[in-house]
Amino acid sequence: MSPSAHPIYARIAGTGSYLPQQVVTNDDLVKRGVETSDEWIASRTGIRQRHIAAAGELTSDLALQASLRALDAAGVSAEEIDLIVVGTTTPDLIFPSTATILQHKLGVAGCPAFDVNAACSGFIYALTVADKFIRSGAAKTALVVGAETLTRMLDWNDRNTCVLFGDGAGAVVLKADGETGILSTHMHADGSKKDLLWNPVGVSVGFEVGEPNAGVRVKMAGNDVFKYAVKALDAVVDEALVANGLDKADLDWLVPHQANLRIIEATAKRLEMPMDRVIVTVDRHGNTSSGSVPLALDEAVRSGKIQRGQRVLLEAFGGGFAWGSALLRY
Ligand code: COA
Repeated sequence: MSPSAHPIYARIAGTGSYLPQQVVTNDDLVKRGVETSDEWIASRTGIRQRHIAAAGELTSDLALQASLRALDAAGVSAEEIDLIVVGTTTPDLIFPSTATILQHKLGVAGCPAFDVNAACSGFIYALTVADKFIRSGAAKTALVVGAETLTRMLDWNDRNTCVLFGDGAGAVVLKADGETGILSTHMHADGSKKDLLWNPVGVSVGFEVGEPNAGVRVKMAGNDVFKYAVKALDAVVDEALVANGLDKADLDWLVPHQANLRIIEATAKRLEMPMDRVIVTVDRHGNTSSGSVPLALDEAVRSGKIQRGQRVLLEAFGGGFAWGSALLRY
């Protein structure tokens, strides 16, 4: 909460999202030789299909489409943006940031633009950073994006991971508002869990780690991630309610990270929320990492589910581990 007598809030003025055209169903994966089944994937994760970026379609391209839709929904021009923050763990390049590439694709220059890498919590972290800029008066109109092409770093021979992820992007335009907006944000991390969910290559350690040509591939201890995620998300949703002096019943919507339907259901149970108050896209999108929360938010806004004035709780958990929440009045 701002210490000033007249707090400035960051309010979501518009949302947008974009999914690549190509849809790959669970049965398609079986046809491509993955030793799995629609029944196994759907019953363990809730996933039925995912979207996969076309050759040459970059994270910044997905981010651009989502951003244009969010700007249009907000009635804001690209020139009005004074801050761009992109949550991504699959940047186009090592540098410059995807945010600066997006800025250029939007046809503008000058305002600060940078990426936040918090794996699947990238959008929550990016939103938190932008919220601080707006609350402090350092920015008035911020573009916040979660965008990923995560399928590019999957090992298609590893059925433990390759069935879980998809590509996509979501964006919001935040505007300074004297009435209401984002009420609280909370971020957490535990770096001791690094090797439970990671991509163990990079500039510093090198790109040929482990077996020769192992390549740039996601590795995960799914069961350990599952257990830690459920506990961390229980704690973070409780924390958000306490920080705002709210009761579970005061929430209108839960917009969770879309990794696994069973994790989502566990958080909903903790909040005593019926599933018709929970936005679920994991069945159609898979886990789009930083893209998942803003994609789900945009779908819920555009379908008319989330209405102005309602209280919405966003949460995410992912590699790092890094996790967090944002509670807002839409
Ligand atoms: N198809 C068929 N069988 C599969 C499979 C697949 N795609 N993936 C794994 N299996 C097999 C395993 O090899 C294992 O077989 P075994 O018992 O013969 O060794 C069996 O299914 C059970 O595996 P297990 O890991 O115990 O399954 P699970 O119920 O924990 O579900 C996940 C696995 C990955 C779906 C689950 O752990 C999960 O969702 N974890 C969290 C992942 C996550 O959310 N990550 C991102 C966070 S941002």
